[in-house]
Amino acid sequence: MADPIVLAEGLHKRFGDTHALRGLDLAVPAGTVCGVLGPNGAGKTTAVRILATLTAPDAGHARIAGLDVVADAARVRARIGLAGQYAAVDAKLTGRGNLRMFGRLFHLPRAAARRRADELLERFGLTAAADRVVGGYSGGMRRRLDLAASLILRPDVLFLDEPTTGLDPRSRGAIWDAVRELAAGGATVLLTTQYLEEADRLADEVAVVDHGRVIATGTPDALKSRIGDRLDVVVADPARAADAAQVLARLAGAYPALAGGTRFSVPLTAPVRLADVVRELDRAGVDADDVALRRPTLDEVFLRLTGADAEPAEAAR
Ligand SMILES: Nc1ncnc2c1ncn2[C@@H]1O[C@H](COP(=O)(O)OP(=O)(O)O)[C@@H](O)[C@H]1O
Ligand SMILES: [Mg+2]
Repeated sequence: MADPIVLAEGLHKRFGDTHALRGLDLAVPAGTVCGVLGPNGAGKTTAVRILATLTAPDAGHARIAGLDVVADAARVRARIGLAGQYAAVDAKLTGRGNLRMFGRLFHLPRAAARRRADELLERFGLTAAADRVVGGYSGGMRRRLDLAASLILRPDVLFLDEPTTGLDPRSRGAIWDAVRELAAGGATVLLTTQYLEEADRLADEVAVVDHGRVIATGTPDALKSRIGDRLDVVVADPARAADAAQVLARLAGAYPALAGGTRFSVPLTAPVRLADVVRELDRAGVDADDVALRRPTLDEVFLRLTGADAEPAEAAR
């Protein structure tokens, strides 16, 4: 692999008695979307804040495009954008006013700041609302404005900390489109999320974080393969369930779990052909209503890896 544009090695961070990061490693190739997936309190925000130069690690180091986030913080900042879990925009200013202000904060000349603000408002569908005060924006509009603000300098690397937490499906879709567009334009995106679906849809690679460490990495597909496919069978007659179980145990190499009288589900340790399943059931005189191979969802992977509930906790932080 080419040198990763985002690299974290052995990051540790404590807050009093809380060990937020316990040796977090991460490597993101340029031009890809990395999904950092973890439950509340896993250490996602802390990791992003370190990578974005907002806080220093107690141990370990991190580099963006080869630049150390502590020693070269100013140069790192010129290459990155950050949209945080909480919108950084000023509720008392208009959308346009906010973006112009950010442009000026980033030392763009006045005319360039105005131009960039207009471009970004257009791109995020905020032109009509541009001259309204942000205090009256919906949550989705604020997030889009926040994302726009993080793009003012056309960053090579964009950090998005839970960009869609708490958003309605339509606003979530708008953010997803924006992330895809940025990635297609060559940017590297690191986004944290508690939503498995989000990681599954957007990320080239997923890093599953739990208790301050990365406990698994891979493409969503590779992570799913780690727990293997399942064979699901529904038999027509509950009286033949025992015979069906015998057949499935022989084919799958594991005894199936019976769920609800006629439904079986068995994890596969080796590939099985559906045609063989159907033929063997037939030979045993078992009528099957349904025979299916099922890919595990990323939720199941997450559950298996963390032993935690895959649903995001109520109060997202
Ligand atoms: N500034 C802070 N002071 C004290 N504890 C903190 C602070 N920031 C984070 N923590 C704690 O560190 C752990 C990781 O937090 P965080 O990085 O915000 O996780 P996530 O973003 O995955 O929910 C949590 O237990 C959290 O309470
Ligand atoms: Mg967080």
